[in-house]
Amino acid sequence: MGAPDLTDGYWLYGSGRESLYQTIAHGRHGSMPAHRELLGETRVRLAAAYVWSLSHNGGTPAAQAAAK
Ligand code: HEM
Repeated sequence: MGAPDLTDGYWLYGSGRESLYQTIAHGRHGSMPAHRELLGETRVRLAAAYVWSLSHNGGTPAAQAAAK
């Protein structure tokens, strides 16, 4: 369906947490469906954190901050 690999280093919309949140919550280009109504705010944020962790070694932003 044209859905991209979320584990590589290539991003259509950027891999920042805010960009991931926007993609998952509100969708993109009409092809990536919006999930805000389906999942709710908390689960959208959890999904964004999970997707972020797939391409950032060391896990979640909180885990990386704790490791510094
Ligand atoms: C919770 C479930 C999902 C998550 C976490 C998710 C996550 C993402 C993310 C992060 C991107 C942007 C990737 C980038 O910037 O390179 C993306 C794009 C995309 N997703 Fe999803 N997605 C989900 C469900 C779905 C579903 C159900 C579909 C299709 C039925 C879908 C289809 C697409 C497509 C087609 C794109 C590319 C959009 C474009 O080319 O503009 N996704 N998804």
